[in-house]
Amino acid sequence: MNIIVVKDSIAGGKKASELFCDACASGAKVFGLATGSTPVTTYQYLVKSKIDFSNCISVNLDEYVGLKPTDEQSYRYYMEKNLFEFKPFKKSYLPEGSAVDPEEEVKRYDQVITANPIDLQLLGIGRNGHIGFNEPGSSFDLTTHKVALTPSTIEANARFFENEKDVPKYAYSMGIGSIMKSKSIILEAFGENKAVAVAKMIEGPVTEECPASVLQRHANVTVIVDEAAAAKLKK
Ligand code: PGA
Repeated sequence: MNIIVVKDSIAGGKKASELFCDACASGAKVFGLATGSTPVTTYQYLVKSKIDFSNCISVNLDEYVGLKPTDEQSYRYYMEKNLFEFKPFKKSYLPEGSAVDPEEEVKRYDQVITANPIDLQLLGIGRNGHIGFNEPGSSFDLTTHKVALTPSTIEANARFFENEKDVPKYAYSMGIGSIMKSKSIILEAFGENKAVAVAKMIEGPVTEECPASVLQRHANVTVIVDEAAAAKLKK
């Protein structure tokens, strides 16, 4: 793993956006994207950059089950407001939260991922070590699946909703098996509440109890952490 320690999330977003621009210049066409508070600065820098995604494809990690694309809490809405309205892609895929048939939806999304192999995948990390919505205990072999969110994830995401009870209890998530097929990965983590997860991911054993630890087995991972998130690393 290539570890880059930066001062804060602003510097981290700048660095990640530079890596996106480099990848684009080298011919990357399919970008795996993430939501949450972590990638916001990356998208801000991309919006300000000269990058042109109009010939590129984006494939997002996850979406809440039950939310429509127009719901303000949906990840589709987040992506539109943070990136797509300013930097449109030729085609942008996310799981469809309001799909009527969950089994069909996970099949459809797997076909999307298979047809569009990801050149560069952006990831955040949960306080419990999740990547996408692959919660602790998720098999490393999984493809797209419907997940029951853990209480810690529901609590962490409650800040985006008026009431904790409004946080959806299920999500569709790209599986770890699919994430690991990305040619390259950038994982960002900012703030002290990510420090334990970051240390386990980088220096702990590879275990399904810390889903992000699987990234130790990937040949091309760059971790961008701020000083607070790096605080529990031994090296
Ligand atoms: P956050 O979420 O960026 O909102 O901290 C990251 C994650 O849960 O993967």
